[in-house]
Amino acid sequence: MGSRPLIAGDDMVRLLGPWRRRGPGYAALAATLRSLVLDGRLPLRVRLPSERALAIALGVSRTTTTAAYDLLRDEGYVESRRGSGSHIALPTGGAVDREVAGGEGVSAGPGSIDLTIAAMPAPGAMMEAVSRASRDLTGFLGGSGYDPSGVPSLRRVVANHFDERGLPTSEEQIVITSGAQHALTLLLHVLVGPGDPVLIEEPSYPNAFEALRRARIRFVPASMRDDGWDVEMMASLWRTAVPRLAYLICDFQNPTGFLMTDGERAAVVAAAARAGSHVIVDETFAQIDLEPWRATPRPLAAHDREGRVISIGSMSKAYWGGLRVGWIRCTTALAHRLARARAGLDLSTPVLEQLVAEHLLRMGESVLAERRGLLTSRRDALVGALHRDLPAWRFRLPRGGLCLWAELGGADAEALVYAADAGGVRLIPGSTFSVDGTLNRRVRLPYTQPAHALEEAVERLAAADRRLRLGAGGPTDQSMV
Ligand SMILES: Cc1ncc(COP(=O)(O)O)c(C=O)c1O
Repeated sequence: MGSRPLIAGDDMVRLLGPWRRRGPGYAALAATLRSLVLDGRLPLRVRLPSERALAIALGVSRTTTTAAYDLLRDEGYVESRRGSGSHIALPTGGAVDREVAGGEGVSAGPGSIDLTIAAMPAPGAMMEAVSRASRDLTGFLGGSGYDPSGVPSLRRVVANHFDERGLPTSEEQIVITSGAQHALTLLLHVLVGPGDPVLIEEPSYPNAFEALRRARIRFVPASMRDDGWDVEMMASLWRTAVPRLAYLICDFQNPTGFLMTDGERAAVVAAAARAGSHVIVDETFAQIDLEPWRATPRPLAAHDREGRVISIGSMSKAYWGGLRVGWIRCTTALAHRLARARAGLDLSTPVLEQLVAEHLLRMGESVLAERRGLLTSRRDALVGALHRDLPAWRFRLPRGGLCLWAELGGADAEALVYAADAGGVRLIPGSTFSVDGTLNRRVRLPYTQPAHALEEAVERLAAADRRLRLGAGGPTDQSMV
């Protein structure tokens, strides 16, 4: 087995944050470690500190760390081999999961409903796209297969989609990437350096925070209001903190589902231009508009005259995350810089996957219509169940995207996540969507699973919520874990 990156005890202490809760220490430690794995902050296969080293770093007994690792080992989140230590793994999921959730998108432990992931299984058109793509592949086999900008025909299709949204775009402005996360990482590599201030919305997408942390930038958080963006506050941050860059999700924001209006988009771009700042706008959810008959705001970049707004997009949410295909739209000059930068990073995106993406995008509307139908009925089932079983929870009905952002009627989200986990539902606390662990009165609820699984999940959440309000807190004995 190759050597695996080891996470140091001190780093683990930082990642774990305030992990202690009521109930046994080992269960609280295991629950926090599990959340770190599920929301991607502890990468798969990373090697954990030894039980002894973690006990010393945390100032707890070795029995606590040993019991926590044992519990996670039983659940499949940790694997240990003699001589190579313990490392992070993911449970493979069992027959019970599929029974509960209709076989779709579930990867939590046995019997558990997983609401940590906002993503759909592949659409019905997938295999047709694969077979068309494999026929096209023959035309590429005589070449080297390396094209850091991406397959020209896919770049053309992506550029056409921008044209159709009112943003004239040439294929030279498009770089195909291996997903939106890769697009962001690549852009950060080229655009920022350690210590640079970067404006972000809060709440926002945790894996983007992680990419920004790795780039060692300084966060300039702009808190969102309960009903959307506080554009005046953002403009004031651009004046005072002078961020070099902003990372925003204007279309069905993750996790709030908010859609920025045209007027707000114009104001944001003007404020960024005055500060000489670039804006990366993450359009990963833009295609998931559940009410497409309503007027759609123009893309953020349509308000930009100076080439400062860079759009990133992806196949992952509207089509399938397993494709690992996304894109960047920017100026031609930056597109060339990005393509050159890939030489030292990943060279290029696999050709076959790009061809599959091209066919799916060409089928476009029929695939998206199927998605919309499914997601609308699931969103409505989740909303109905919440009104029925958890009437104190508050949320705004999102017009698109994959999630509700729910306020828990004053309850503590981390305590709820803990209690819900014990009751058979996994979900992510609001604090994960902030850079400093605030927003702990909210949770994100994806509506990507079948209606019956969502209804069952809400019933279990309501039971967990009742236990918390009765003061039972998290699990107090092993039988509840
Ligand atoms: C806002 C946002 N950006 C990017 C990503 C990652 O996209 P990809 O799978 O294309 O890397 C996600 C996935 O959840 C997301 O929510």
